[in-house]
Amino acid sequence: MPINDFLALARHQLAADVRALPQRLSPEGRVAARLDRCLNVADMRRLARRRLPRAVFDFVDGAAGDEVTARRNIEDFDRLTLRPTAMTGASAPALTTTVLDQPVAMPIFAAPTGLTGLVHHEGELGIARAMHEAGTIYVLSAMASYAIEEVVAGTDGTSWLQIYLWRDRGLVRELIARARERGFGALVLTVDVPVAGARERDRRNGFGIPPRLTLRSLGEGLLRPAWSSGFVRRPRMTIANAAGRGGGPQSAVGLAEYINGQFDPAMSWRDLAWLREAWDGPIVVKGLLTAVDAAAAVRAGADAVCVSNHGGRQLDLVPSSIAALPEVVDAVGGEAEVYLDGGVRRGWHVAAALALGARACLVGRPLVYGLACAGERGAAHALHLLTEELRATLVLLGCADLGELAGRYAQPISLLRSENPRTKRGSADESASDA
Ligand code: FNR
Repeated sequence: MPINDFLALARHQLAADVRALPQRLSPEGRVAARLDRCLNVADMRRLARRRLPRAVFDFVDGAAGDEVTARRNIEDFDRLTLRPTAMTGASAPALTTTVLDQPVAMPIFAAPTGLTGLVHHEGELGIARAMHEAGTIYVLSAMASYAIEEVVAGTDGTSWLQIYLWRDRGLVRELIARARERGFGALVLTVDVPVAGARERDRRNGFGIPPRLTLRSLGEGLLRPAWSSGFVRRPRMTIANAAGRGGGPQSAVGLAEYINGQFDPAMSWRDLAWLREAWDGPIVVKGLLTAVDAAAAVRAGADAVCVSNHGGRQLDLVPSSIAALPEVVDAVGGEAEVYLDGGVRRGWHVAAALALGARACLVGRPLVYGLACAGERGAAHALHLLTEELRATLVLLGCADLGELAGRYAQPISLLRSENPRTKRGSADESASDA
């Protein structure tokens, strides 16, 4: 290229860059540029790690024990195989579906995450707004830092309420009444927290409610002024829905200590029957990994089950959610909707889960990483990335809509680590022969 042409091109580019500078340097422009650099959920996780104090990042990112199950949740998706069909003419797949008869714009909704206000002052409200704006469901955690009433007042869409069984059933009854009064679309009963999981990162960091101020946390806060200014000016660090009840959440107790003191470790399917009496809307049971448990949940009145190991945050070494999904679908798929959460980091993970029989996926950490990156806009960006990846996956699979996915397109290899080569889903040999 002659030197004059080169210089003209450089001058042209420079002028355009200078013209765009005010916009790029505005707060709005800086957020947009930050998010533009995040091409996937892994990028958002890396950015969240830089922006959050270590104890807060670890609270979100960490899991139980050696974090084997948390890793399996993600790695087992990588072991699946998708099988595209060519020349189907499916160019604009529909992502709309229904969950429990409620229409959603995509088969992805927000998993309940507690104490999300520690990550960003917008907390649960930020994620809820992002989900509702996109036309999908927000599941508000019983342990949220925003109260039921605040979320309803600040958002405009369908929310479900997740609950735990506190020993104090009066508190549970009160939550149910508040959910009914505020029009929540379903109750989600989480059954995998009879006691707290061994989250060693939290213990090592001395994580508590509210977080303890130490020299280290002060130093980390000073190095992260964006997070600190939101946290100091608009602190959100109590369990808002249970504030003042049980004596725990207002004081600096460890999270595990709070759970072990407040939740009922002796819960059983009888309690689900009790809940069925107390709540006349749909009930989802979250935190199951086996056919036996899923069948028991449906017998006791569940309308849907969510295959989940709490993102690996409870019992380590249990199967990944995607590995457990097929047996749950086999057991109850005809009678109840089956959802999956745990390890969904890509739109094609959602496609694979749906191909193996899930009706929808819930995502936890990806939205919280997004919130850490840029509040509501960050959570919206994380959802957007997953949704667009899902859309592209369907086109590449040759699949016109979500209904077509079930039972096709994903290789049904065994992900369960059973040692018995004779069981139906039991062996690497079988996986190989399926292939
Ligand atoms: C959770 N999860 C959770 N589940 C629940 O039923 N009630 C809760 O209060 C919380 N709180 C919570 C906080 C944080 C920071 C995380 C990361 C997770 C579990 C959550 O609903 C979901 O099961 C997992 O997050 C799914 O795994 P992924 O998507 O994070 O891999």
